[in-house]
Amino acid sequence: MIKALRGMKDILDPKFLKIFDTAREVAENYGYEYIETPILEETALFKRSVGEASDIVNKEMYQFMDKGGNDVCLRPEGTAGVVRSFIEHKFDRQQSPKRFWYFGPMFRYERPQKGRFREFHQFGIESFGTSSIYEDINIISMAADIFERLGIDYTLKINSLGCPECMPKYRDNLVEFLNKHKENLCEDCQRRIEQNPIRTLDCKNENCQAILKDAPKITDNLCESCQSDFETLKKGLDNLGIKYEVDKNLVRGLDYYTKTTFEFVSNEIGAQSAIAGGGRYDRLVEFLGGKPTPGVGFAIGIERIMDLVKEDKKRSGIYMGALIEEAIPYIQKHARGVRKEQKVFVEPNVKSLKAHLKAADKGNYKTALIVGEDELKKGDFFIKEL
Ligand code: HAM
Repeated sequence: MIKALRGMKDILDPKFLKIFDTAREVAENYGYEYIETPILEETALFKRSVGEASDIVNKEMYQFMDKGGNDVCLRPEGTAGVVRSFIEHKFDRQQSPKRFWYFGPMFRYERPQKGRFREFHQFGIESFGTSSIYEDINIISMAADIFERLGIDYTLKINSLGCPECMPKYRDNLVEFLNKHKENLCEDCQRRIEQNPIRTLDCKNENCQAILKDAPKITDNLCESCQSDFETLKKGLDNLGIKYEVDKNLVRGLDYYTKTTFEFVSNEIGAQSAIAGGGRYDRLVEFLGGKPTPGVGFAIGIERIMDLVKEDKKRSGIYMGALIEEAIPYIQKHARGVRKEQKVFVEPNVKSLKAHLKAADKGNYKTALIVGEDELKKGDFFIKEL
């Protein structure tokens, strides 16, 4: 028997669509437009944006040569493609803000476990053209609204990674610290000292964690402007009643971030607890060849929140069933009219009254309309509220 690939699964849960509808409605209420970008892109796009040294690019890409000899890759995340599209359509030259939402599959060749898949779905948003810290607050508020509407409890963690003014100085300090402890760090962290020292801060290795507890933190070394923005961010979240924790080790797994980074985590879903992540990427558009344009966004992991969404137990819609075959065309005709207003299911097989009512109950319908010989003669229905 042929089975789905490891780490990939069929979606059979109606909560998936409920999440889609909720996220879409909230994004549209915030003034965002829909964008759909290709699932396959040039590998170079992800190498340049997510970062050559990141785990995603280094270890997890579904990368191959296509029949035309192009080096391509199934997208591991959504931001890179949206930025590529933003530049390709010359929105960077218009110098006016542009805001997009998207929903679709992403692919990472990770070791599958609970909450971690090789194909998973993200709802994401990207806001271009505004460097105001109040936009960061706007988008965090949007994510919080989506979770609140879905009845999901979360902890929000925030941090700032600084800007080209404060980051390089901090980086030098950190590298100095790491070199002093190099021998006691894990292999990955030793490699990171050269390639991406900031990523050592969220290493899961216990030994590294113990050493890095004393490492300098970027949040304590921000320049005046980054520091002031970070204070405004905290005040802005307080103002909206959105609770947060400052996590000085929150550095995220993608290289394009500057300034604000954040993650929403849930303590109800096990080790893979991040249900959304995002931040500011003011240099990415320029880095990918566009005119310098600030950007900020986030993505929610749909599979991670599926189990957290409460099931909709409310009955809805109408079940129509026939006791004799001649009644089927009669109910089909009525159903077409009623469907303009609400959900109607027509059972295509003749059944007994008891069997129809049982099926209507199982299908969670609100009302059953049954037609037998008498009802057909009178042009009537037997109605049962369930
Ligand atoms: P990310 O943190 O890599 O950020 O992914 C966002 C969310 O996708 C995670 O918080 C998690 O819920 C979910 N996720 C990631 N990997 C997996 C996996 N293997 N299986 C299941 N769920 C997963 C990004 O992708 C950025 N593009 C977010 C962003 C948008 N930043 C700015 N704009």
